[in-house]
Amino acid sequence: MPDFPAKPGVRVAPSLLAADFSHLAEQVDAVERAGAEVLHLDVMDGHFVPNISFGAPVIAAIRKKSNMFFDAHLMIAEPRKYAEAFVNAGCEHITFHIEVVSDPAALVEHIHELGVSVGVCLNPTTPVSAVEPILKTVDLVLVMSVWPGFGGQKFIPEVVPKIKALAGVLAEHQRLEVDGGIDAETISLAAAAGADTLVAGTAIFGGPDPARAFDKLTALALRASRERNAGRP
Ligand code: DX5
Ligand code: ZN
Repeated sequence: MPDFPAKPGVRVAPSLLAADFSHLAEQVDAVERAGAEVLHLDVMDGHFVPNISFGAPVIAAIRKKSNMFFDAHLMIAEPRKYAEAFVNAGCEHITFHIEVVSDPAALVEHIHELGVSVGVCLNPTTPVSAVEPILKTVDLVLVMSVWPGFGGQKFIPEVVPKIKALAGVLAEHQRLEVDGGIDAETISLAAAAGADTLVAGTAIFGGPDPARAFDKLTALALRASRERNAGRP
């Protein structure tokens, strides 16, 4: 899916974090066959977040098994240092956290120079103003709807106004992604607020049939987004 993130439209991005790591290739294949176009990859370093997940070698291994668009969410203290390794591993998009970067404009430029698209991520209490200076230069904004570090947490509804505010200012070619606690209940809230890329880990890989869960979530997101668009003047 090379035109992501520039292409508008609503989609569900399965998060590998909740997959059965002893059957990674099969799990990736199941959601790809179900129609998933974007695979969300949660990289954690044990510094920025209190957990360690997986790194570039694991991504390089699944890159050989999948044609999905690889969306890397770097929950790491030094994104500048490692961005190139993740691009070399096959990531087509890199999102970094605004909270850890002193010169975000330079990092956006660096990642673009690596030949991939760039996203900036905000923790639940980080305001939109924190990303204002680089907003026009990024391809995607990621709103955390849980505190990063772990899958399986509850959606924090207080972030909904932030999703709405961003949806009002982003351009057509920029994506608005929401991550954390997305399930059959909360996906409609996020999509109705204007999110177009919904990350779901536990809700997809936590049950017996990831493909079916992906289908169901996609249908709910599409419906909420259509209702939102119909309600607009
Ligand atoms: C949390 C990660 C999420 C996580 C979402 O730190 O960024 O992408 O995998 O998992 P669920 O869908 O289980 O909340
Ligand atoms: Zn994530």
